Amino acid sequence: MATRTNASTPFDGYRRTGAGGHDELLVRVGPGAPAGEYLRRYWQPVHIAGELGPRPKRIRIMGEDLVLFRDGSGRVGLVHRNCPHRRASLEFGVCEERGIRCCYHGWLFDVDGAVLETPGQPDGVEERVRAATRLGAYPVKEYKGLIFAYLGPPERRPEFPVYDTLELPGHVMTPYKAPFRCNWLQVVDAILDPLHTAFLHSRMSREQFSRGFGEIGEMKFYERPMGFLGAATRRVGDNVWVRVNELVLPNYTQAGAAFAADGARRRYFGRTAFARWVVPVDDRETVCLAWAIFGERGDPESYNTPEGPELIEQGEVFDRTYDERQRFPADAEATEGMGPITEHDRENLVPSDKGVRMYRRRLRELVGALRDGAEPEHVSSIWPNPVPTYGGDTVLRLPASGGDDRALLRGAGMAVMERQFAAEALKGEARDARVVAALKDLEADGLPA
Ligand code: FES
Ligand SMILES: [Fe+2]
Repeated sequence: MATRTNASTPFDGYRRTGAGGHDELLVRVGPGAPAGEYLRRYWQPVHIAGELGPRPKRIRIMGEDLVLFRDGSGRVGLVHRNCPHRRASLEFGVCEERGIRCCYHGWLFDVDGAVLETPGQPDGVEERVRAATRLGAYPVKEYKGLIFAYLGPPERRPEFPVYDTLELPGHVMTPYKAPFRCNWLQVVDAILDPLHTAFLHSRMSREQFSRGFGEIGEMKFYERPMGFLGAATRRVGDNVWVRVNELVLPNYTQAGAAFAADGARRRYFGRTAFARWVVPVDDRETVCLAWAIFGERGDPESYNTPEGPELIEQGEVFDRTYDERQRFPADAEATEGMGPITEHDRENLVPSDKGVRMYRRRLRELVGALRDGAEPEHVSSIWPNPVPTYGGDTVLRLPASGGDDRALLRGAGMAVMERQFAAEALKGEARDARVVAALKDLEADGLPA
């Protein structure tokens, strides 16, 4: 049998065969699995509201087979797939004025799982059934065209968080979804890996967004009370472009604009153009449910086309031939190519993976703590809605001074972030105004020597 090795010997493929191991604590998302329990402590989007028609829809979220439906009075229900009578699937049920009726023997269920009718039974049976059983159901909330659900313990349901970027006046939000045939962790990892943008999205194939993305920036990572920021500071001509990728625990991500920010035009505290949750379907599949955000501080409205959100999401449309995928790989190719669950013990992390390392470490702590009985925090226990966030772009005119330009970039990146942090206690337009004014002052004054 081949002996596994980390040593570097030429032509030693024989010693590197066999299956590698996964980060088991983090990759298993089903009911009862530690990471599955942790993710279930948070509201998660499960569907695009406009794609739910008059018939029930079978969906799978965190390893659970569920049925989503809208009843005749407009209420949305998310229930276990199988009827508590004799297990027929409610995807073949009928949406009624109040609730959903099973196709097999006509039992009617309310959105909260209550048994409303059990037709064809002798007197008294219906009351007995109603008292003794329910259909498994989850609370849902529709918000700006996405349907969210809370799949955790009822007594732990948190307040529904609203992030500041989702309430920008005058902006258009288009819901979209991006499927990935792989584990959620390898999809979410990319947000704290700003370096991949310069390679995957630029140098390795074609400029999927703009030329500026191909610049390798100075990267700095920040650990925040409820997440992480990865700031990449690039030089684009006389401009300095600070792009902030953001992860709010456990799985909400924001980056800057895909097309509005290219480093060539000035921008002061531009905000995210794609706000997304990386939602596990099960251990081997993931769906990002998200909005593309169009307007002055997101991406240009000219991208609000059927394929626009796909281009914003990963610089390519999703449904492509194998040949196209080989020639112009994007996030799906990079992450799915690892296999359905990547072999974490065969990775070789380097300094640019610092954000990934920080995130996984914190996740392991939180998942482990919950397993031991310590409930995780929520943004709502720190900030009232709207929650202040950072994902976005700032582009300032700060020409190179002839000195160490990498040092100037690092200093500019930190100065931009400090001005954003300093306004965190403010809300909405007051915060924006304070940050924008501070950034303009920084640009006018230049960096302190
Ligand atoms: S299996 Fe659903 S009503 Fe009988
Ligand atoms: Fe990417």
